[in-house]
Amino acid sequence: MKERLKEIIKEAGKILHEGYYSNKDVTFKAKKDLVTKYDVGVENFLKEKFSEEFTDFNIIAEESDNSNIEFKDSIIIDPIDGTTNFVNGVPHTAISVGVYKDKKPFIGIVYNPILDEMYEAQIGQGAYLNGKQIKVSDENDFQKALMATGFPYSSGTNSDDLNDVIEKIKTILPKCQDIRRLGSAAIDLCMVARGTYEGYYEMNLKAWDVSAGIIILNEAGGKVSTLNGSDYRLFEDKYIVATNGYIHNSLLELIK
Ligand code: IPD
Ligand code: CA
Ligand code: CA
Ligand code: CA
Repeated sequence: MKERLKEIIKEAGKILHEGYYSNKDVTFKAKKDLVTKYDVGVENFLKEKFSEEFTDFNIIAEESDNSNIEFKDSIIIDPIDGTTNFVNGVPHTAISVGVYKDKKPFIGIVYNPILDEMYEAQIGQGAYLNGKQIKVSDENDFQKALMATGFPYSSGTNSDDLNDVIEKIKTILPKCQDIRRLGSAAIDLCMVARGTYEGYYEMNLKAWDVSAGIIILNEAGGKVSTLNGSDYRLFEDKYIVATNGYIHNSLLELIK
């Protein structure tokens, strides 16, 4: 299944790639949440192919109405993660596809067609970037850790969420190497998986932002939890905390 998924996602990547260099009609779903015809185009292409070929799975996708779809044997699609980057020409934007069987992680693929970077993982088989196995970093000194985070769209309207973002940066920034905000949750998780970042946290993400990245990071030897250290549950938990494993407890201590 993974090989076929990759072929289809590479094809869809051509739509994203073409759109990246074209004029985009941007529509606002909410104050900060953008969508373009390319988000919809990539999503429709993937849904059509997946529903033809993987008939045992239902499909949950960002730009679709998912209200009657039960999460069980599911393919979870973010057609363009990092739409703001996509719209503004920042090359960190990716197609993210996570496959779950009976709600359990099975395959994760994150493909950035601008940099032509394909991250993939299947449960028990390791994580790969363009065919080469990747592993998390072995840095265990929090002061040397390069962290990443994201600012939730809700911080534009909800002052509690904005304060939460600021408070966490105030606590973490003096204690680590630095903090990055790249603008794609799917790629952020992959950056921890490849050993570039030691850790990443964010609030208010949706299942499609992280469904693939979680699998890739776990297969690269990392750790993913929620704020209290228990396993992160798609569709349920507010906070995701993802690290190389070595700095996980230090990060939890700081932000819980
Ligand atoms: C967003 C990106 C961003 C994160 C936002 C997400 P989208 O997804 O992953 O990094 O900070 O919370 O919603 O809307 O570009 O698919
Ligand atoms: Ca979006
Ligand atoms: Ca997303
Ligand atoms: Ca998206």
